Amino acid sequence: LSAKSLDCDWPRLLRGLAPSWVAPLAIHRTYMGCFSDDSRERTLKGAVFYDLRKMTVSHCQEACAERAYAYAGLEYGAECYCGNRLPSTACKPEECNSECRGEKGSMCGGVNRLSVYRVEELRRNVIYRGCFRAPENLTDTFPASLIQPNLTVEMCSEFCSKKEFPLAVIRGVECYCGYPTRHFTLHEGAEGPRCLQRHDGSGAGAAAASTHCLVYQTPVQDTRCTDRKFLTTKSKVFVALSSFPGAGNTWARHLIEHATGYYTGSYYFDGTLYNKGFKGEKDHWRSRRTICVKTHESGKTDIEMFDSAILLIRNPYKSLMAEFNRKYAGHLGYATDRNWKSKEWPDFVNSYASWWASHVLDWLKYGKRLLVIHYEDLKQSLIPTLKEMVAFLNMTVTEDRLLCVENNRDGNFKRSGTKQKGFEPFTPEMKDLINSYILTVDEALRKRNFTGLPREYVPR
Ligand SMILES: *[C@@H]1O[C@H](CO)[C@@H](O)[C@H](O)[C@H]1NC(C)=O
Ligand SMILES: *[C@@H]1O[C@H](CO)[C@@H](O)[C@H](O)[C@H]1NC(C)=O
Ligand SMILES: *[C@@H]1O[C@H](CO)[C@@H](O)[C@H](O)[C@H]1NC(C)=O
Ligand SMILES: *[C@@H]1O[C@H](CO)[C@@H](O)[C@H](O)[C@H]1NC(C)=O
Repeated sequence: LSAKSLDCDWPRLLRGLAPSWVAPLAIHRTYMGCFSDDSRERTLKGAVFYDLRKMTVSHCQEACAERAYAYAGLEYGAECYCGNRLPSTACKPEECNSECRGEKGSMCGGVNRLSVYRVEELRRNVIYRGCFRAPENLTDTFPASLIQPNLTVEMCSEFCSKKEFPLAVIRGVECYCGYPTRHFTLHEGAEGPRCLQRHDGSGAGAAAASTHCLVYQTPVQDTRCTDRKFLTTKSKVFVALSSFPGAGNTWARHLIEHATGYYTGSYYFDGTLYNKGFKGEKDHWRSRRTICVKTHESGKTDIEMFDSAILLIRNPYKSLMAEFNRKYAGHLGYATDRNWKSKEWPDFVNSYASWWASHVLDWLKYGKRLLVIHYEDLKQSLIPTLKEMVAFLNMTVTEDRLLCVENNRDGNFKRSGTKQKGFEPFTPEMKDLINSYILTVDEALRKRNFTGLPREYVPR
């Protein structure tokens, strides 16, 4: 809940929503049988998850139920598909014979065979997105609607979830379902008395404030931008997605893949990323079947193998901390106090800070055609920055697809839990060292006629 939505009277809304907010996930699960799948025209068309090592039946059921799907289907022992229609072709039970990768003795489908469960989440969570000016013609903007006296948030959210829409929009007693689109971007939150519709569950006082509406995020994923494939013809131009470790390379790949619909590759192989859906991770990095290839390498030969590159740069203070966290706790965790206080941290800063600088300097020197992207810009103005990257890759993408990417901006791999607020691991000596590198890189960028580093971290 942002400060902007304060005027929408969210404490009241929160109270109204409290039951569904706090209830733990409870799921009814019913085995429906073994069904045939078609790998080209998927039978269950919703969200998809892979886990080559740890897939279990309940993991898949929960993943689908959380997103409000009615069916969860497992295949090949490691794949999980969600959807709302029961597959039509039933098979012999024994054809579902792939053992789940994460659970000995239980079956997770088979080759082109789905073990299907009906799942039903008893209480689902709804997230308040804010109060927004209603579009001119709501029937035109939203594909589904429900008008009901005494409408509640739960009713509307449930209705929209069933219809597989990520947004539930309420205006008075009207409930609309849809997506963020060009006509309803969710970019400018509104405030003021018009937002004070009350949806406290009693249905009383759903005052018609016809110019504004309240928007909720249902558990359904926005799937308009989640389909991805490999390039069907080999790319003529070999593009790197180059960054220093800890600079948001994985996040940029997530955004590029969802925006363009094509997988990205990698110079390395990381099974965790593959399991998170980065299927290009397993492709040979020179296959040219991916739209760009992640690399942290620097040095003339490595750079000259690429025809062009997106050079992603992040504040070195943040990059160093992120990379140190990754080294000690993986993609999603945090290093411990003991790690930060050990001798490894100063050693790490000493070697990595100079690498942060030489990485950019080398790409500026040997890179053939460069697009410089600052992580901070991507964070602050996602759509315009993403548009630049997409244009650099010579792709065309609709505005609605970009809005879908924005709706899914975090993916499944954001570090969560206790953020290290106000934590200062850098000594004055470390700062002097890092600041000198920042100034060097800033100057080198300007010499090549690129905009310099974001002012927020260039020392004055
Ligand atoms: C809204 O759009 C629908 C479908 O195009 C149309 O039938 C209806 O008359 C429009 N309503 C208004 C108030 O313009
Ligand atoms: C709607 O709410 C009013 C007042 O609380 C109540 O009298 C009425 O019966 C309710 N109508 C429906 C259809 O639930
Ligand atoms: C995009 O098109 C331009 C102009 O034709 C070309 O120079 C560039 O190499 C192309 N880039 C990619 C990634 O295809
Ligand atoms: C940068 O721009 C200036 C002025 O437009 C030009 O003279 C110079 O050659 C450019 N330098 C590079 C490295 O492109």
